[in-house]
Amino acid sequence: MQFETKAIRLQHERGHREHSVPLYLTSSFIFEDAEQARALFADEVEGNIYSRFSNPNVNEFVGKMCVLEGCEDGFGTASGMAAVFSSMMPFLKQGDHVLASSALFASSTRIMNDFLPKWGISVSYFDIQQPETWEGMIQENTKMIFAETPSNPGLVLIDLQFLCDLGKKHGILVNIDNCFATPYLQTPFSFGADIVTHSATKFIDGQGRVVGGIVLGSKEIIKEVRAFCRQTGPSLSPFNAWVLSKSLETLHVRMDRHCENALKLAQWLEQHPEIVQVNYPFLPSHPQYALAKKQMKLGGGVVTFEVKGGYERGKKFLNSLKMFSHSANLGDTRTIATHPASTTHSKIAEAVREAAGIFGGTVRVSVGLEHIDDIFADIEQALQVSK
Ligand SMILES: Cc1ncc(COP(=O)(O)O)c(C=O)c1O
Repeated sequence: MQFETKAIRLQHERGHREHSVPLYLTSSFIFEDAEQARALFADEVEGNIYSRFSNPNVNEFVGKMCVLEGCEDGFGTASGMAAVFSSMMPFLKQGDHVLASSALFASSTRIMNDFLPKWGISVSYFDIQQPETWEGMIQENTKMIFAETPSNPGLVLIDLQFLCDLGKKHGILVNIDNCFATPYLQTPFSFGADIVTHSATKFIDGQGRVVGGIVLGSKEIIKEVRAFCRQTGPSLSPFNAWVLSKSLETLHVRMDRHCENALKLAQWLEQHPEIVQVNYPFLPSHPQYALAKKQMKLGGGVVTFEVKGGYERGKKFLNSLKMFSHSANLGDTRTIATHPASTTHSKIAEAVREAAGIFGGTVRVSVGLEHIDDIFADIEQALQVSK
């Protein structure tokens, strides 16, 4: 079966001839007898015990994600950040070192700056723009490489084959946050990644409704993740899993249109006299266009661009948008714009921010599924008003 068919047709076993899978809102499950309870707790048989451990809706979502990403097992989590944290902690101990990308979602950086050092785990950041320097940063105690590609919001790409080969060569786990691409556009396991995490809150839900996440990997990897999550409890709720599993049925259709609209927008902006620069992986002007074409099916649903006039114009442009949502989320049917310099990246020193490609006039747009002409029209009027 092809990706699209699997995303639609994989379904939890039917109990009542239902066409669409029902919601299993139950905190626990009944044991048929004491022997079954014993065998379940001893992991001698598979089955649900308690919804902090597993639940039919969560199992369905996880099962589909495993097939779409191409891996053996997974664990559904309450958020993308719960997934990132739970993908690290089972594998790290005092004295270990993590090598991380310099361009990561801010909360991932906060985990590594504010919490890992408290537990004696050190972190260094490789320069995303200089792959030739990465191998030299590997230490004897490096246990994990953590990265995301394309990066948020700079849309810088990491060569997954190169990074995974580096991990393999040194026996280090490679952990990739695949949230921006989704398995429809890019599958890190096919390059040799060991762990993949997602914020399912973004394109996987795709309609801005629920928060959720997932950690994926081999049976061996997920055994450790499951043991950690089962005791610490960052589990995905059955309701959110039900929504997310339904969302996967339309992921390919939505991603095709997100990417089509995003490419049209990027091309349109590139010709616009009020725009300094446009960043989109599938634009031939993107410095990593060839890599994007090699490892991604399409360019993704996010475009960043810089308006003329710097920081103040950037803020004014945001205030002038009428249809776009001004919100912190991305991957929604509705187009969302943010101004990183005054919000998500406001606490970062200007020079560091600019090295990551975020200038005063940079705007990040998560391109929605509205008609492209309406997207152009809102940007055009906001550019005129903010002049
Ligand atoms: C790349 C990336 N990873 C992880 C997260 C965190 O996900 P969540 O908000 O579901 O915890 C986000 C959220 O924006 C993200 O963009």
